[in-house]
Amino acid sequence: MSTESSLEGLREQALAALASASDEAGLEHWRISFFGRQDGRVTALLRSIGNLPNDEKAKFGAAVNGLKAELESAFEARKDALKRTALASLTTEAALDVTLPGRPQVLGRLHPVTQTMRDCLKAFGDMGFRIAEGPEVEWDRYNFDGVRIPEDHPARDMWDTIWVNTLIDGKRKMLLRTHTSPNQVRVLERTPEPPIRVVVPGKCYRQEATDATHEWMLTQIEGLAVDEGVRMTDLKGVLYQWARLIFGSDRKIIFHHSYFPFVEPGVEMAMDCFICRGDGRDCGTCHGTGWIEILGAGMVHPEIIDNAGYDSSKVTGFAFGIGVERVALLRWGIEDIRNFYGNDVRFLAQF
Ligand code: PHE
Repeated sequence: MSTESSLEGLREQALAALASASDEAGLEHWRISFFGRQDGRVTALLRSIGNLPNDEKAKFGAAVNGLKAELESAFEARKDALKRTALASLTTEAALDVTLPGRPQVLGRLHPVTQTMRDCLKAFGDMGFRIAEGPEVEWDRYNFDGVRIPEDHPARDMWDTIWVNTLIDGKRKMLLRTHTSPNQVRVLERTPEPPIRVVVPGKCYRQEATDATHEWMLTQIEGLAVDEGVRMTDLKGVLYQWARLIFGSDRKIIFHHSYFPFVEPGVEMAMDCFICRGDGRDCGTCHGTGWIEILGAGMVHPEIIDNAGYDSSKVTGFAFGIGVERVALLRWGIEDIRNFYGNDVRFLAQF
């Protein structure tokens, strides 16, 4: 094989390999195999020039150097071409189309029950009540016994209880609190001296068939005021003031006598039904009564005061328990309490 034809073969191979190099790695691979300092095929030829007899040196040297120059400029051209296609595909494939409409960022807001809770806490805060908290997983002695509902007392049926299955001394003693009233006892126990004026917000749980006005999870605010000379009129005054702040003064309010084992006397406060406006006939929301119960309240039972180490002949108190979902229903005229926890933004976005 003549030197010329072998150079021509190398040239063709090199140009074909360059044409099929399609990215930076391919180019680098090509450069190393032809121009690599160790084993590059063109490098080897260049090196061999020095060993040739003098009469061949000039001709072969010129041919190899010509090939070298040609391949080098082919390499640069290929590199440029690849760079240009890469740039072009960047502006078409991964392009940012600034003419497309943007994705709107939806602003969140507070859940209507949270809004109502905050408004209530603010109203009581302005009347001098401080906020306290208690656990959602509660001992039965706080949820029941401490508020005068011993085991087997029929009043336990008023709160269908979700129990924690763990047995302690062979008995289930922990539950999801059915109301915030255990905090009457907790706050009394940890407060060495009156006066006490607290509101305790929180979730409560009941094993209950749900309907338009009942949910198995509910939010309550417990109120407790204990001092010398606290009277029923103080309770009424505080609750009237709260109702005026939340609902405005044109709402009707009524107190009925009611029974809760931890208060004596006990009352229920109700407001005129927002659906039938107190008419009552065929109204599914107030079950025909014209009134919707919002809260239970009363004077703290003297036994609870004495058990906490106070002297009930000197110290008296009132307590109330507000159902916050009920308040939110009344304030916005919402017909079904289940909407609150249905997670439908179309409902929630209205408040
Ligand atoms: N804990 C009662 C309930 O959940 C409400 C209540 C609180 C009643 C305080 C009287 C006093 O039904």
